[in-house]
Amino acid sequence: MITKVINVHKTYGSRESRVTALNGVSLDINDGDYISIIGPSGSGKTTLLSLIGCLIHPSKGDVYYNKNRVSDISEEELCILRGQEIGFVFQFTDLLSNLNVLENVLVPVIFNDGQISLKKQYAKELLERLGLGYCMYAKTNFLSGGERQRVAIARAMINRPRLILADEPTGDLDAKTSELIIKLFNEFNSEGVTIILITHNRNFADNAKNIYQMGEGRIQKILK
Ligand SMILES: Nc1ncnc2c1ncn2[C@@H]1O[C@H](COP(=O)(O)OP(=O)(O)OP(=O)(O)O)[C@@H](O)[C@H]1O
Ligand SMILES: [Mg+2]
Repeated sequence: MITKVINVHKTYGSRESRVTALNGVSLDINDGDYISIIGPSGSGKTTLLSLIGCLIHPSKGDVYYNKNRVSDISEEELCILRGQEIGFVFQFTDLLSNLNVLENVLVPVIFNDGQISLKKQYAKELLERLGLGYCMYAKTNFLSGGERQRVAIARAMINRPRLILADEPTGDLDAKTSELIIKLFNEFNSEGVTIILITHNRNFADNAKNIYQMGEGRIQKILK
């Protein structure tokens, strides 16, 4: 078991600006799972992923990570846990423009064991695997959207996380690049990495072992 989400609710804002993003969601995530989450804009997908990634806390309900209640874990310990065990691929990539591609991939190492020189070879391997061998030393502001997204995936993998949380990693990408990314997720999962993938593309969602459909802050249907 990695994560147990128990009847979580999440509201943002207060009084008249209050928004209910999650309205009673429960799910279990086990080692080796591959779950995709689909559902309309505003249905709470990113909020749920942020809770699973221990980036935010629920307003009500609990999230357990490896049997520990996330709200009982100190912020320092959560930082370490996120750095070592979870790889995040966000909806909008957030690369550092003053660093080159390889350096961007190595950034999470600074927050983990700091062994940059040891991880360099693995970073290069990941970039080759993602078809980015040719631009390892390029500054990231010159990259295309698809290239940036692939750099973000290499960066998410660098600490060999047990869990990958990917929020629409194929958002604006062409079919070929999207398929490359999905194929990589399939490979990572067959190597034992647990994956949660938010996507608007039903074909991509079908790669997962389970598909949850969200609507109005709940899991409305388990499609698979
Ligand atoms: N930090 C925030 N502050 C206030 N409201 C928020 C915040 N984050 C999300 N919301 C609101 O919560 C609801 C759920 O948002 P969420 O981002 O989880 O949806 P989503 O399913 O990921 O949508 P999309 O497909 O557009 O990415 C939305 O109504 C959104 O406006
Ligand atoms: Mg979202």
